[in-house]
Amino acid sequence: MGDYTILVVDDEVSVLNAIYRVFRKEGYQILRSDNPADALKLLNEHVCHIIISDYRMPEMDGVTFLREAMNIRPDAIRMILSGYADSSTIISAINDGGIYKFLTKPWEDDILKSEVRYAIERYELQSVNKKLLEDVKRQNEELKKTNMLLTEKIDEIQENVVSTVEMLCYLSREKYSGLPTNVDSLYTIGQEVGRKLGFNDSGLKNLYVATKLHDIGNIGIDCGIFKKSGPLTTEERIQVEKHPIIGASILSFLNGFDEVSRIVKYHHEYFDGTGYPEGLKGDAIPAGSRIVHIIDVYDSLTCIRPYRPAMERDEVYRMLEKGRGTEFDPYILDIFLMAIERHYES
Ligand SMILES: [Fe+2]
Repeated sequence: MGDYTILVVDDEVSVLNAIYRVFRKEGYQILRSDNPADALKLLNEHVCHIIISDYRMPEMDGVTFLREAMNIRPDAIRMILSGYADSSTIISAINDGGIYKFLTKPWEDDILKSEVRYAIERYELQSVNKKLLEDVKRQNEELKKTNMLLTEKIDEIQENVVSTVEMLCYLSREKYSGLPTNVDSLYTIGQEVGRKLGFNDSGLKNLYVATKLHDIGNIGIDCGIFKKSGPLTTEERIQVEKHPIIGASILSFLNGFDEVSRIVKYHHEYFDGTGYPEGLKGDAIPAGSRIVHIIDVYDSLTCIRPYRPAMERDEVYRMLEKGRGTEFDPYILDIFLMAIERHYES
């Protein structure tokens, strides 16, 4: 038991000596003090595992002393040994001083010895628990770091996939029409609309990617159609209307792109159910697709086309208003128009 130190505090030196005699042969290190102030100094200088204090002492009562002792050695097991033991004293000792045991004088040596042994067992248990908690905390921190690294890696991989697909889009645009697009400036606005609709982080990310890749399906369409300046034939229109399904199929090969693929698939649906590919109506159309559709139309109206120049803002607004409730979700259109206005103002 030489590894354990007991501090005994009592204003009666005879009590200190008697306790010393009880524990001397048990192999503990015993520190003695006949006043609490000196005892606190001892605690600052020595590691103590068990503190046994008298209750009634002239300078400071035992509960106050043990409360102070707790600040210096929070892990030490604290006990009161007192001849004065009414219930309110015991209650306040336990509640205020974090006392493990309230023992009474006069004591029986064997009982006092076994109480100290129990206190040491408690100390050991407490130390093991503390170590386990620290280990769990450390492992949690490590897990958190690993998770962050993994998330960064996944983001990086997804960014690479998006960049690769974007490159394909760019090449296909070059090949098919060579037309510029304003869509880059619309990503931010799309995100603003998504946020207003309550999209979470992952929803916003999917929306962002779908906005970038919504026309990837054009890769599967005969490039001559995109270069044509006159109206499309029925066959050509049927072919063009396949691009959302082709795009969704391409994206469905990529892990984690299910929602992006769904948004792309329905980005030409009309709010009144007259769009394609499935003629979905109202809320049955994914909210992301309803946003992308408005962005897509806005982008196309504000771009130069072989058959017309870029439209003026007022005319674009008129065209969008014309489709309110039929082509476009009126609520999302409002949010989009407000976001566009804010964008122009800034
Ligand atoms: Fe499209």
